[in-house]
Amino acid sequence: MTQPLIAPSLLAADFANLQRDLELVNRSEADYLHFDVMDGVFVPNISFGFPLLEAVRKHCTKPVDVHLMITDPDRYLDAFAEGGASVIHVHYEACPHLHRTLTRIRELGCKAGVALNPHTPISGLVDVLEQIDVILIMSVNPGFGGQSFIPHTLQKIADLKQVLIATQCPALIEVDGGVSLANADALLRAGTDMLVAGNSIFGAKDPLNAIHQLKNSHQPLVA
Ligand code: DX5
Ligand code: ZN
Repeated sequence: MTQPLIAPSLLAADFANLQRDLELVNRSEADYLHFDVMDGVFVPNISFGFPLLEAVRKHCTKPVDVHLMITDPDRYLDAFAEGGASVIHVHYEACPHLHRTLTRIRELGCKAGVALNPHTPISGLVDVLEQIDVILIMSVNPGFGGQSFIPHTLQKIADLKQVLIATQCPALIEVDGGVSLANADALLRAGTDMLVAGNSIFGAKDPLNAIHQLKNSHQPLVA
C-alpha cells in the first residue's frame, strides 16, 4: 500500500517552543514542513514571512513546502527560493500570468505548486499542467488553521486525478485544511498524494504518533 507524503503545518506549532516542535518534525516520518505565508490581503489573516523561514531553516532537516497566500507572489519568489523553499505554491486566484510564474519557480530550482481555493474549478489548470509539479487543493477557505474540512473536496480530487491520468501528467495532488485521521483514507482513495495537517498533528497528545498514523492511514480494502 503506498504511503502518502505528510507535511505538518507550522501554523499549528507552538511558536514559543518552535525549536522543540521543529525537532519533533525532524524525528518524525514527515516528508515536508508546510509553511503558510499570509499577507492580510489575499486572506484575512497575517502569519509569518522571511525571518521565520530563516530561523526554521536553521533547525529543520525536512524540505520546506511554502504556501503563499499573498497577492502578487511574483515579487517574492526569488526571496523564498533563496530562503530555502523546496516547493513554492502560489494561488491560482492571485496569478494573472500563471504560466510565467510557474516557469520562474522552476528556474529558481524549486518545485512549482498551484493552490486552488474551494470555489476554484480545476479546469483552469489544463493549459499549464506541464508547468506544475504539485496541485494544492484547499479543503478549507485559506487563512486560518483548525477549520472544518469541506466534503466536496473529495469529488474535486477524484475529478482532478482523472484529468492527471488522462493527460499523463505526473503532478502530485496535495490537500490542505481540516485533514485528520477521520478523512485521510478517503482523501487517499480519491487520489491524494500528500496530506498537510496542522491541528490534527500539533494539537494531538502525541504528535509523533499522529504523524505515524497519518502516514499509515491508507486502509487495505477488506474483501
Ligand atoms: C490554512 C492553511 C493550512 C492550515 C491547516 O489557510 O493553509 O495549511 O495550517 O491547518 P489545519 O490542518 O489545522 O486545518
Ligand atoms: Zn497551507
